[in-house]
Amino acid sequence: MAEVVIVKDADEGGALGAAVVARLVRQTPAAVLGLATGSTPLTMYRHLAVQLAGADLGQVRGFALDEYVGLPTGHPESYRAVIDREVVVPLGLDAGRIAVPNGKIETAEHAGRDYEAAIAAAGGVDLQILGIGTDGHIGFNEPGSSLASLTRVKTLAPQTRADNARFFESIDDVPMHCITQGIGTILRARHLVLLAFGASKAHALAAAVEGAVSSSVPASAIALHPHVTVIVDEAAAAEL
Ligand code: GLP
Repeated sequence: MAEVVIVKDADEGGALGAAVVARLVRQTPAAVLGLATGSTPLTMYRHLAVQLAGADLGQVRGFALDEYVGLPTGHPESYRAVIDREVVVPLGLDAGRIAVPNGKIETAEHAGRDYEAAIAAAGGVDLQILGIGTDGHIGFNEPGSSLASLTRVKTLAPQTRADNARFFESIDDVPMHCITQGIGTILRARHLVLLAFGASKAHALAAAVEGAVSSSVPASAIALHPHVTVIVDEAAAAEL
């Protein structure tokens, strides 16, 4: 059973999530972090930059959850660019130690296997930060994804493309495909910290935390993991 902590809002949740990550990094300077994108973890990354200001983060490694397939290199909404902008630069990390799945179309076929190998070579992920999609996805594992899945190319659900259209000029600019760590990959991390803020997440969050484990709600797979912390604001906790 996941530990669920209900906080007032995204700022308080971000501070709490950051404290969990900061404690790990102080105890384990070579910690391997699993990094989520999307808007949810942004308050956490901001708090983390403050809480870890001055700390030596030279040994930290990181692996992002997912990436769009087919965006040009350097596109500001590519998750490589987002991770660099929101995490690497504010925390003063070494960009070469923070990996993001390779979303180049030409190499997508092998990118999943290569990414799994890189995570394994780093000794696995110590702490995986997760958001949740309004359809219950984690990473880009849409409903129907195998609970044992590993990093691979997937097609984005129409709902997710609509949700993420706000980051692009129009929905037509949202890529059709992505490469994402699988649910099986995520479950291998030693600690999962799932964040959910806002009323739009209430339904998916309740299904994930209190519903049956099912591939129709990918986030429900957290029930299979022995060490999960769910940090949720009052709005997202409304259906618990
Ligand atoms: C995105 C990401 C997920 C994220 C989720 C929620 O599409 N691929 O990793 O957790 O959907 O996004 P947001 O935090 O912006 O609501």
